[in-house]
Amino acid sequence: MRELLSRMHEWMAAYMKSFYSDDAEVQQGILIKEKHTGYVTANCVELANFLKLPTHDAELAEIIGLFHDVGRFRQYSIYKTFNDADSEDHADLALKVTDELEFFKELAAQDYELVRFAIQNHNKKTVAPTDDERKILFAKIIRDADKLDIYRVLEPFLAQENADKMPNFIKSTSRLVADISPDFVENFVTGNQADYRKIRTNGDRKIVRLMWIYDINFSWTMQKIVERGYIEKIVDNLPMDEKIAEGVRRLRNHVDKICFEIGG
Ligand SMILES: [Fe+2]
Repeated sequence: MRELLSRMHEWMAAYMKSFYSDDAEVQQGILIKEKHTGYVTANCVELANFLKLPTHDAELAEIIGLFHDVGRFRQYSIYKTFNDADSEDHADLALKVTDELEFFKELAAQDYELVRFAIQNHNKKTVAPTDDERKILFAKIIRDADKLDIYRVLEPFLAQENADKMPNFIKSTSRLVADISPDFVENFVTGNQADYRKIRTNGDRKIVRLMWIYDINFSWTMQKIVERGYIEKIVDNLPMDEKIAEGVRRLRNHVDKICFEIGG
């Protein structure tokens, strides 16, 4: 499969370059996605190795990382946005792209089905229910690999004073105020996943990013998130009161629990 994988890497590199643009803002968006693709692919491989998966499975994880956001490029060229709500779900769009690619027919049918499932579920609120444990495993891998890198992408914009420097394609439509809406505060205190479609303020967005922590699956990912200080960076920029402090304590307990979990 190594030979197939190197053809896939070559194709993807050329495909991403074909979207390069003279428009500075478009080019910035495309380069962010190109770099993100590289990091997420590397994260998938590292995580697969951490989990001691056999070579074949580590290669499947690599393929999933490489193509998980392939839909982003067609999304931008058709709709001029990376906002799924304003266009089309970029993971569903990714499958339309991969289904057109001849080299995916070289994968065993079962392997391609696994790749499709993981890509389709990489960005959904939860993974679609299935009895297939392998599908769940690979969906968890890409979800962790992707979130870890999105924290990297967002890091420069987490501080409130930089929020207004955030490019349009990242910040979407919420108000740039630090306040957190009451329903988001409530979700944070109780540890219930917040609904990102209800984001109204910049504070709400921070809560959603923080609550992703409850969705991290593996100690490998959680340790990287802690080492890189992403959680502290968000927490330091939250408007603090008693309720938020309680939510933060709850979150820190959860982080410790996952970090020190054996074998996962
Ligand atoms: Fe994505």
